[in-house]
Amino acid sequence: MKFNIPKSALIPASDYVIFGGAGDLATRKILPALFWRFLDGQINEGFNIFLCSRRDISVEDLEPKVPNEILNIRKKSRPAWQDFKKLITIIKFDVSNGLGAEVLKFEITKKLAINRPIIFYLALSSELFGRSCELIKKQGLNLPQSRIVIEKPLGKDRSSAKKINDEIGAYFNESQIYRIDHYLGKETVQNLMALRFANVIFENQWDNKHIENVQITVAETVGLEGRATYYDNYGAIKDMLQNHLLQLLCLVAMEPPANFTPEEVRDEKLRVLKALAPPNKNDFVIGQYKDYNNEVGYETNTETYIAIKILINNWRWAEVPFYLRTGKRLGKKASEIVITFKDRVHQLFSKSNNKSDSKYPNRLIIRVQPNEGLRLLLKSKEPGPGGMRLFPSELNLSFEETFGARLPDAYERLLMDTARGNQTLFMRTDEVLASWDFIDALVNLTKTQILERYNQGSMGPEDSILEKSGHEWFKLT
Ligand code: BG6
Repeated sequence: MKFNIPKSALIPASDYVIFGGAGDLATRKILPALFWRFLDGQINEGFNIFLCSRRDISVEDLEPKVPNEILNIRKKSRPAWQDFKKLITIIKFDVSNGLGAEVLKFEITKKLAINRPIIFYLALSSELFGRSCELIKKQGLNLPQSRIVIEKPLGKDRSSAKKINDEIGAYFNESQIYRIDHYLGKETVQNLMALRFANVIFENQWDNKHIENVQITVAETVGLEGRATYYDNYGAIKDMLQNHLLQLLCLVAMEPPANFTPEEVRDEKLRVLKALAPPNKNDFVIGQYKDYNNEVGYETNTETYIAIKILINNWRWAEVPFYLRTGKRLGKKASEIVITFKDRVHQLFSKSNNKSDSKYPNRLIIRVQPNEGLRLLLKSKEPGPGGMRLFPSELNLSFEETFGARLPDAYERLLMDTARGNQTLFMRTDEVLASWDFIDALVNLTKTQILERYNQGSMGPEDSILEKSGHEWFKLT
């Protein structure tokens, strides 16, 4: 069955001001996302996009950096791209010395109005966040309708994360700060909340009485992608686990909030982070893919893989292992959440006919990407007169087949939310700091842990973390 997708909600005409406007993030993610929203009519000629760059550039100079997908649409839909380009103004503006700040102020002031959001997207290194905010204030642009958008790395540990927050916090309130974790903008991740809180059938199964274990995998086939300097300073734990994977864990484990408001949703996620049991040195494995050192050009112990068992010390989840793993240069690109339910308490059907029965517990698999969708693994009777023999079967919901629509990129949703003023899908300071508390303790333990070397194209180093509890990684779809 196909469903019609309702038209996207209107958002107020806004100014998007991108610091680092000629950089990778701006050209690969932000501009394409805004263009898609323009094609959909959510952004129109009432909007401005200011690309601030310290270099003398034109929009045409940036075009080759825009992803091919957009270039192809651009060819098909030339007038739309030309109209979109009219929204863009390039501003020569150097954050380090402030030159050009008055020009930005002049441009913004042309359409300044109380109900017109001004969204400052700091697509820059975090060392420049404080300075950027200071310049915004100097120009009198830290107005009630101004918002600051920032993205990871938000620190390397709790204290550096706090420093970044304090620097921005000196000029803007928490309600004006939008911390992006792009995983929260992914359709399937948002759907996790719909699945849990809009359906009644899972909620009374969603606890340690019914769930055996939860597995969260973000497996990547890519390696460093030209980001060796950044990546080697962070590694898989800080690059992926601290943010994306822990956020996924929060959405699986959080209590239903009383209301779907940004504060209440984030309060519940925070409670999960605060309930994480401290990491245990026997419950994680770190690895580095072979040849990594050659790629970065020196000997380094940065991990490119982590698998870890995490326990949540609260009433709902006590003793349910959450197994999380992520790595680069693995054999498959797949992000999946697998919820394995406990076996039936009473085996009604004769075991002799159902030898493989216990190997196939009920499972709910949320395919975050690619092939976004849900699978529910069930057991059915094998057809035929041969008695009651069970065999594994499944309900498979493919978002593409069901909705037949292109799934918007995470940045599209998140950028629209900044204009709407909705912070639900953005991380609050206390969440960021609470996740660093867990990660700092883990990083400390890694210092005495063996770094396993794994073959590129494998699924990472062998681990016995799950075996100890009689579990195994579920094969990725
Ligand atoms: C980024 C990490 O946050 O997420 C990258 O810095 C990683 O290392 C990327 O490759 C993965 O995002 P996605 O959306 O491709 O799964």
